[in-house]
Order: sequence, then C-alpha cells, then structure tokens
Amino acid sequence: MADEIEDLSGVGETTAKKLTENGYKSIEQIAVAATGKLMEDTGLGEKTARKIISASRESQDMGYATAKEVLEKKDEIRQIKTGSDKLNKLLGGGVETQSITELYSKFGTGKTQLAFQLSVNVQKPKKEGGLGKNALFIDTEGTFRPERVRQMAKAGDMDEDEVLNKIFLGRAYSSDHQMLLAEKASGMIEEKNIGLIIIDSLTGLFRAEYVGRGQLAERQQKLNRHMHTLQRHASTHNTAVLVTNQVMANPGLMFGDPTTPIGGHIVGHASSFRIYLRESKGEKRIARLVDSPCLPDGECVFTITQKGIEDK
Ligand code: GTP
Ligand code: MG
Repeated sequence: MADEIEDLSGVGETTAKKLTENGYKSIEQIAVAATGKLMEDTGLGEKTARKIISASRESQDMGYATAKEVLEKKDEIRQIKTGSDKLNKLLGGGVETQSITELYSKFGTGKTQLAFQLSVNVQKPKKEGGLGKNALFIDTEGTFRPERVRQMAKAGDMDEDEVLNKIFLGRAYSSDHQMLLAEKASGMIEEKNIGLIIIDSLTGLFRAEYVGRGQLAERQQKLNRHMHTLQRHASTHNTAVLVTNQVMANPGLMFGDPTTPIGGHIVGHASSFRIYLRESKGEKRIARLVDSPCLPDGECVFTITQKGIEDK
C-alpha cells in the first residue's frame, strides 16, 4: 500500500509537488477529492486527475469488506498485559492491538513508566501476556531511559540487552519530524516485527510550537492527520498504539478547560481507550478508564515500584 503521494503509480515528482503545494498532502485527501475540484486546485488535466484519484482510492483500500472479514479481523486482536492485573481488567485484558490507547495525566504521574513497561512486556511470549514482538518508541521529549527499561527487564527475568535491542527508538525534534517518523514507520513495522508503537508524548511538541489561538486550527488539523496515520498502522499491521498526553497544568498558557488533555476531541475521538492517571499515596496511582465505547467506565489502583508496574 502506498503511504506517500510520490509512491502512487503515475505520480511523478512534478505532479506530487503540484499536489502538496496546493494542499493535497496525504493520499486520503486525494482519495476523497472530486475530479473537478482537484483539477481546479492543482491545475492538473482531467485524465491525470482521474488517474491519481483512482490510484489513491485503490491504495487506501476504500472498498467494502464482508462481515465475515470484519469478524476475522476482530479475532486477530491481541492484548499486551500491563504488569498490573487490576489495570488489565479495567482495560478488558490489556492494551489492545488495532486500537489507539491514550494515557493522559499531569506531569510525573507515570505515563512514561507505563510506556516503558509495555515496551518490555510486548516482547514477552503470548502465554506470559506479551505478543512475542518488538516495540517502536517515538520519544519527543528526550525522556527515554534505557537504565530504567533494563531494570524492568531484569525484574521480568528477561535478557536485559536483548530487551533493549528490541526497542527501536526514534527521537523527534519537531512536530513535523514526529509526524514523519510515524508516517515512515510502515516499513519498520513489518521488517522489525513491531507489536507496539509508542508516542511519548503525542502532544508535547505540538503544544510548544502552536502557541496562539490563531494556530489552533492548524494544530488540530495536523494532530488529526497524525492520529489517522497511527490508526492506519494499528489496523493494517495488527499492532497496538500507545500515546501519552499531558493534561494542561497552567490554564494561563493554553485555551480551553485546564483539566482536559491537550488536543481535545481530535485525540479523544481517535483513541479507543483513554486512561486518566492521577497520583495517590506514595507509589500508588489511580487509573480511570474514560468514555470507552465497549467497556464500562471504572477506576483501579496500581503501583509503580522499582520493578515497574505492579499491583500490590
Ligand atoms: P511527564 O512526561 O512529565 O508528563 O510525566 P509522566 O507522566 O511521563 O511521568 P513518569 O512516567 O516520568 O513518572 C515519574 C514517576 O514515576 C516518578 O515521580 C516516580 O514516582 C515514578 N518512578 C520513576 N522511576 C522510578 C523507579 O525507578 N522506582 C519507582 N519506585 N518509581 C519510579
Ligand atoms: Mg513522560
């Protein structure tokens, strides 16, 4: 399946440039465009416009699937255990493939810790709650800590170096870079046997770069596209996607409700599972499942110990 406009059959560099310069930046956008509108916007001839739209539609697999196929795809859903039985139960078993799970909270609550634990656990064999697959970790804040991951691997009786070797790390320095890393992940997912994609943090760079109210619409549009890319990876490759999101701490800095996660409904609607974390006594944390379409809302307590995520 083509991921980039340039990969579409019949699209040369010049045409790709015409498309992107005139606002057609993704294959999805072209696939849903009307021929006349595309011609008007880009100056391309009718024959070319039709050909490109049709190639985009084919590459997006916009056709129908039978109910049986839908069911079979659902049967392929797997879950990654978190380390806490209570949290697994809240999630209906663990962090699911084919979906996006969002962790949101104030700073220092344990989002990154959970992300580390899951990038270790995904590597465990199925009977131990993993997928026997590897992790792709997009770090946007420079908070990835190999020593901490090593500690968790050790606690799980796993070969520490092997665990580190099976986490593929991408450091994003801008929101565009982050989006590019996510878009380019397709090839990696198959080649490196990726079962879990993590974006930690999903929104940090976006928040830092798009500061004014006037930029809000553009930010949301980009986030929306980013979430679509992630969702597409999740469903085409049967991988789990975990994103972290900080709750706005300073109401003076941002617009909107200071207790809501950044990205608002764009991120919320695209995530199937949303977990709100908050601190409790000592090492204890409270996780709340919010607005799940298929599971009851609820809360549980788990612990972050030296070994990682546990019950206790
Ligand atoms: P931001 O990225 O700033 O939004 O925070 P976060 O939600 O990602 O928080 P993070 O996962 O970094 O959690 C940090 C907290 O995890 C610390 O305050 C500790 O409570 C806990 N933690 C981190 N490392 C250890 C450890 O080695 N042992 C124990 N017991 N707790 C740890
Ligand atoms: Mg963090």
